[in-house]
Amino acid sequence: MNQPIPKTELPQIKHIIAVASGKGGVGKSTVASGLAVALARNGFKVGLVDADIYGPSIPRMFGIEDARPEVTTNGNTDLMFPIEKFGIQIMSIGFFVDKGQSLIWRGPMAANAITQLIENTNWNGIDYLVIDFPPGTGDIQLTILQKYNLTGAVVVTTPQEIALNDARKATAMLTNNDLKVPLLGIVENMAWFTPAPHPDEKYFIFGQGGGQTIADEFGTRLIGQIPLVMELGEAAEKGQTAFHVINHAVVSAFETMASAIAEQTA
Ligand SMILES: Nc1ncnc2c1ncn2[C@@H]1O[C@H](COP(=O)(O)OP(=O)(O)OP(=O)(O)O)[C@@H](O)[C@H]1O
Ligand SMILES: [Mg+2]
Repeated sequence: MNQPIPKTELPQIKHIIAVASGKGGVGKSTVASGLAVALARNGFKVGLVDADIYGPSIPRMFGIEDARPEVTTNGNTDLMFPIEKFGIQIMSIGFFVDKGQSLIWRGPMAANAITQLIENTNWNGIDYLVIDFPPGTGDIQLTILQKYNLTGAVVVTTPQEIALNDARKATAMLTNNDLKVPLLGIVENMAWFTPAPHPDEKYFIFGQGGGQTIADEFGTRLIGQIPLVMELGEAAEKGQTAFHVINHAVVSAFETMASAIAEQTA
């Protein structure tokens, strides 16, 4: 990387937390949503940005696919009002494209779109802005990491060896000497399978101990282990979050995660 880019100040936002992963489909959006709700339930003012420009999933997960933000014009700039759901101020490119339509922007345009979503939104006094990253280490992630002062990042992985290797790469990028994003912790999603009729049983179908291994390697903490439960996937389809799932292990995983974040950023 060349010259450090001067950081853009966001006066309405106290803390920016990135939720990142190496591999796709490991549950970033699920974790970002649940974490946002958990922080809001603890009394914080929370914003959620869906930075997955090419595959936004936050509007569907919150049941607000048809929402369209109001826009006001202030001089030459348009200012968008976030959509509020479950007490969270939400912004996503999904609000501006029709369902099923895919974006074919090249890197710089996508990077431009994400900075507009973050900077041209009329955030209302946010304590935590949670950013749901796209998978991997591309232009969008780099733009956000270079442009804004992040309080820290959470890396989501599943226990399989291939996911762990990708999580290592993503974590290494975040913490490298150019970016130096503080790690707030590792979240292991789909840590075990719990069948609905037997909520106390745990089956480690994808292996065991992977999240802790990554945490140890990077000198950070394992701040959450979320079981694989059918209801969580089903809830997302219905526009509900982890807190609508009557599964104690899921709810308590998100509560622990939010406490770990609040504690480290107090
Ligand atoms: N612990 C879990 N139990 C059951 N289903 C889950 C769990 N975590 C995630 N899912 C489901 O798995 C799918 C992928 O999760 P999610 O969209 O959160 O992953 P992602 O990492 O954001 O994916 P992408 O890389 O595509 O953005 C979703 O359908 C989600 O509802
Ligand atoms: Mg996602």
